[in-house]
Amino acid sequence: GLVSVILSGGAGTRLWPASRLASPKPFMRLGGETLLGQAIRRGQACGTDELLLVTNHEHELLSREVLAGFAQPPHCHMLLETRGRNTAPALALAALHVAQTQGPGTLMLVLAADHLVPDTQGFVACAHEAMTLAREGRLVLFGVQPTHPDTGFGYVEVASLGLHSQPVLRFVEKPDLETAASYLATGRYYWNSGMFCFSAQTLLDALAAHAPLVLAAARDTMASRAMQGDHSTFDAARFALQPDISIDYAVMERAPNVTVIPARFAWSDVGSWPAVAQAHTPDSSGNTFEADVVAVDTHNTHVQVDSHAPKVVATVGVQDLVVVDTPDALLVVHKDSAQKVKSVVDALRARG
Ligand code: GDD
Ligand code: MG
Repeated sequence: GLVSVILSGGAGTRLWPASRLASPKPFMRLGGETLLGQAIRRGQACGTDELLLVTNHEHELLSREVLAGFAQPPHCHMLLETRGRNTAPALALAALHVAQTQGPGTLMLVLAADHLVPDTQGFVACAHEAMTLAREGRLVLFGVQPTHPDTGFGYVEVASLGLHSQPVLRFVEKPDLETAASYLATGRYYWNSGMFCFSAQTLLDALAAHAPLVLAAARDTMASRAMQGDHSTFDAARFALQPDISIDYAVMERAPNVTVIPARFAWSDVGSWPAVAQAHTPDSSGNTFEADVVAVDTHNTHVQVDSHAPKVVATVGVQDLVVVDTPDALLVVHKDSAQKVKSVVDALRARG
């Protein structure tokens, strides 16, 4: 059996105001569909109609809206977190649930809800290769060829970059800039795409060996679960006792049985506004518009207006800007400063 496990708990503050606490990045529409909807479709394309969605209880209704948008919605169970404790506890709970309900040998295809993978066929081919390796007891991740020393990714060392799957020699989560640059210079590192494939049992074994506290806390939390039809809730106090640690630090950096499959598909974590712009097809002036724009002498500029509050936007004599309009917030930022958008969120939080 195969289950798509989709984690959708992150905030995505660099994409303010389209992504925010009440409506985070997985619910952001890109090219007409939410990122979560696209992830669900990606899982379905791999031949599974079973979906396990791990998300915050505050986003249950938004998630149901996304599912309702499917002509053929997948068979879905939701694990509703009282408070996100990061991806290691989320995946530990998912593995316990899958092992309990479908058997420990069931494969989990773990998809992030905040990525853009336009080439579904390319992804499906890699996913099938991943499933074969996962059946052999490997922890499989999809590696992406790095283009710059990004400090927001995990780095995956192999003997040499190539087209085929390889054992991972070393995994380093979010190195500093200097370290990331030195990795890039060796030409022997992939980025971790944050998508994984393993059997429930393989992950539980890895947690037992490398993150026993995460596994024990997940078992305690699971013991408190209330299963109500298509969703599960947990005791809030037990849930909060789980360590706040990502799967990358808890397992991938420590486990000896990690395998990387080079991604033969385009991938973007759409982590910032320039990445969103890049995911669009530009016009002849390099502009990417998701709005009714009157552009005069405008270049390399991204404009998007929320469809709930449409309006005409005019830009004159500008370049390299991002303009994002939502019903209650307007962002204007230079593409070179896009990483600093998260400080807007900090400033707004400080205001209370
Ligand atoms: N349910 C749930 N609960 N989901 C969560 C939680 C949580 O507490 N925390 C994060 N997620 C979800 C996010 O919504 C996202 O879909 C996915 O798990 C990854 O979490 P991020 O917070 O976005 O991780 P990251 O981007 O810093 O790093 C990961 O992804 C990179 C690629 O984008 C790591 O796996 C890196 O190694 C990797 O390079
Ligand atoms: Mg991310």
